Amino acid sequence: MPLRERTCCIITFGCQMNVYDSTRMESMLSQMGYECVDNPQNASLVIVNTCSVREKAQHKLFSLLGRLRKLKRNGTVLGVAGCVAQQEGMRLLERMEHVDFLLGTAQIERLPEALEEVGRGRRVAFTSLKPMPVTRPSVPCPRVGVRAMLTVMTGCNNFCSYCVVPYVRGRERSRPAPEILAEASALVEAGAKEIMLLGQNVDSYRDPSSGLEFAGLLREVARLPGLVRVSFTTNHPRDFTEAIAQVIATEPTVVRYVHMPAQAGSDRVLAVMRRGYTRAQYLEKVRMLREIAGDVALGGDMIVGFPGETQEDFTQSLSLLEEVRYDLLYSFAYSDRPFTRASRMSGKLPTDVKLRRLGQLQALQREISRQLHQALVGTRARVLVEGPAKKGQGLMAGHDECGRVVNFPGEEGLVGQVVEVEITEGRENSLVGRIVDPAREG
Ligand code: SAH
Ligand code: SF4
Ligand code: F3S
Repeated sequence: MPLRERTCCIITFGCQMNVYDSTRMESMLSQMGYECVDNPQNASLVIVNTCSVREKAQHKLFSLLGRLRKLKRNGTVLGVAGCVAQQEGMRLLERMEHVDFLLGTAQIERLPEALEEVGRGRRVAFTSLKPMPVTRPSVPCPRVGVRAMLTVMTGCNNFCSYCVVPYVRGRERSRPAPEILAEASALVEAGAKEIMLLGQNVDSYRDPSSGLEFAGLLREVARLPGLVRVSFTTNHPRDFTEAIAQVIATEPTVVRYVHMPAQAGSDRVLAVMRRGYTRAQYLEKVRMLREIAGDVALGGDMIVGFPGETQEDFTQSLSLLEEVRYDLLYSFAYSDRPFTRASRMSGKLPTDVKLRRLGQLQALQREISRQLHQALVGTRARVLVEGPAKKGQGLMAGHDECGRVVNFPGEEGLVGQVVEVEITEGRENSLVGRIVDPAREG
């Protein structure tokens, strides 16, 4: 069967900022008359939006690109966007002859231009990191869900020694607050109930003209008419302020979850990671947050097996988990990335040591999450219903006011509403419950 023209499929890897960029591409394509399909085999245009934060993500991409080669027989146009496109540039076009165009992280808006060039038979790579004048699509993404993402700042200036992000996303740049508020209102109008404000380090947000800081921005978004919830990620422990904790404490629409990665538990490793805080300073930020905002769920990221990490350093990462008691933790084995200082350090650990430590850390975290979640059994949660649960027939899923996943029996008609749920079971990564109050709002 010949391919239908103007059908597109965007495959997204990586963090939520990539998910946001994919929605921007989807908006542009829908304005050009494209219809999105789920299967790349049915698409006349396939775009892979890529991540390079760990080596594994990059491997996955190259094997996917290999598999997509056969689609070329049907005349499918293939583009690569995002962080690997930025990192590899022309090299990727040379290595992968079946890729038609590349869009770097600051060039997403040039998608229509890239497609025109490809239409003229040229292969193009738009990978300058110089930020483009931003022209937002005038219509929001056609598939806006209950939760919509909104990037408030791009790039990162921190240069943590292991991290490729500053090299592939460029320097920090905050978007003007009026533009963010206008986009947030448009998303609410299009049906979004929760907006997730995104940045690699939202705490260093600063409006380029008024100087408004993140706490002020968060408060303004929190008060938008029609918005049920606002969440935000990622926080940097060095830059997280009392003012932000105050907004969490006082604005009922702000989700009571703070993602504040520590990355390591020992001062020595934190210093070589160039994180800009000590263990004691990190714990002090957590204490301040809990003192001001009360019951807040904490999330974080940890890296195990950083070059030179001793057994004693690792033990301190374990004890940090026990001290903080995260609700949710993402943990990774250290991976060498191009351009980074850590990749040139001595003392690299063998893979089996890294994986053993990772397994041990994850087992401890599973136990902590389970304990925290089991302690919630019998309590009530207000859940914003997002859609059918991934697992489990007849179950719906949403998040509670602390950002925890809650699954419960319910109807699809509840999507977008807030329901009161009694928690009946606490699992590692989610809660299970049943609706107790049919009086809904939303
Ligand atoms: N801006 C965020 C994180 C962005 S990357 C922050 O500063 O917290 C997401 C996570 O990937 C990081 O928090 C870190 O835990 C992990 N990560 C980044 N580079 C890595 C590397 N080279 N090896 C393993 N994990 C890495
Ligand atoms: Fe990477 Fe550090 Fe920037 Fe996060 S703060 S994106 S870990 S350099
Ligand atoms: Fe990956 Fe780029 Fe995000 S490297 S984590 S997609 S900023």
